[in-house]
Amino acid sequence: MIEFTLNGKLVQSHDEPDTPLLWVVRDSFKLKGSKFGCGMAQCGACTMHIDGRAQRSCVMPVAAVVGKSITTIEGLGTPDNLHPLQQAWAEQGVPQCGYCQSGQIMSAAALLNENPNPSEAQVEAAMAGNICRCGCYPRIKTAILTVAEQSQPGAVQVAIPMPVSEEV
Ligand code: FES
Ligand code: FES
Repeated sequence: MIEFTLNGKLVQSHDEPDTPLLWVVRDSFKLKGSKFGCGMAQCGACTMHIDGRAQRSCVMPVAAVVGKSITTIEGLGTPDNLHPLQQAWAEQGVPQCGYCQSGQIMSAAALLNENPNPSEAQVEAAMAGNICRCGCYPRIKTAILTVAEQSQPGAVQVAIPMPVSEEV
């Protein structure tokens, strides 16, 4: 039995110790927000926080997280109380197909926890490992920088209008 904390709750996994954390979370605990993309730590779709740091859960054996604290997208905010990044994502209309987005948000949240006021270059560097096949990168960056700006002392909280959709 492997015990760890999942979204603030102590849980026990009875999966094989070498089962990737992603499958334990998705299949045993039925939290489907974290996605499988590459299975090789290359795309970021499976990103979760392990003790507050963004990690690729597709290559993390569950045995490696004994006693650790795991946060998935389901533990970041709730529909009634969105995390500021989730709020900004909605306001900016960031997602296209949506598949990569939980991983993107988890990486962004870890970045802002470590560095609440990153430069544009720091955002680009921190997010470089999260692939978006729909090419939402400009909106992802804008959303992160907006949250960073609004979290600074003295910042005025304003609602951001939805971008006008582009003609195709
Ligand atoms: S599925 Fe884990 S990094 Fe791609
Ligand atoms: S929104 Fe489609 S892959 Fe990123």
